[in-house]
Amino acid sequence: MTQEELKKAVGYAALDYIKPGMIVGVGTGSTAAYFIDALATIKEDVVGTVSSSIASTEKLQRLGIPVFDCNEVDGVDVYVDGADEINPSLQMIKGGGAALTREKIIAAMAKKFVCIVDGSKKVDILGKFPLPIEVIPMARAYVARQLVSLGGTPIYRQGVKTDNGNVIIDVHNLSILNPIELEDQINRIAGVVTVGLFSHRGADIALVGTTDGVQTITL
Ligand code: A5P
Repeated sequence: MTQEELKKAVGYAALDYIKPGMIVGVGTGSTAAYFIDALATIKEDVVGTVSSSIASTEKLQRLGIPVFDCNEVDGVDVYVDGADEINPSLQMIKGGGAALTREKIIAAMAKKFVCIVDGSKKVDILGKFPLPIEVIPMARAYVARQLVSLGGTPIYRQGVKTDNGNVIIDVHNLSILNPIELEDQINRIAGVVTVGLFSHRGADIALVGTTDGVQTITL
């Protein structure tokens, strides 16, 4: 099976977690896009969605699936999204698509987080994938210097502006042995909006696409 087929398989497998009457959180990226296609097949069953990016909102609306502002809903029943890396504790690196801040907000609101990935995203230790950080533009150089002092190699993601009008720094050469500690350390740097480490609020369930089928991992 190709990587695209594995992404599609987990996108459709996530439908098992969608029940009638739910508000569904929708992630961003190529795997989440397959979930949106899947959700369109049962769109009459759900109340609607909240979305983690302009790109996902546009796709949801194109397919006739209602999208609410996060401030209009009491809560989110289930959040379905991809990840750039996921470890055995279901902690993740996210933000390869620059949508990490809205993703973190919806993850925090959600009763259940279902992470959908192809097998290549499973790792023992997070950090091979450069860690994305959304930063207020005027703080870019300051935040980069602080990240060097934490042992990383920060690279400014040229030409990218987030949906919130900020910039992204990708931190290379990290081996994240204590994700919770690093998430807290980076969150404390002035000018950081969001770090793409999802360790305090990791996933509850991971659906992993493999050539032997979709593997379900829970804690
Ligand atoms: C978007 O900002 C990310 O968090 C995505 O969820 C992540 O990059 C995975 O994307 P793909 O499904 O395209 O690999």
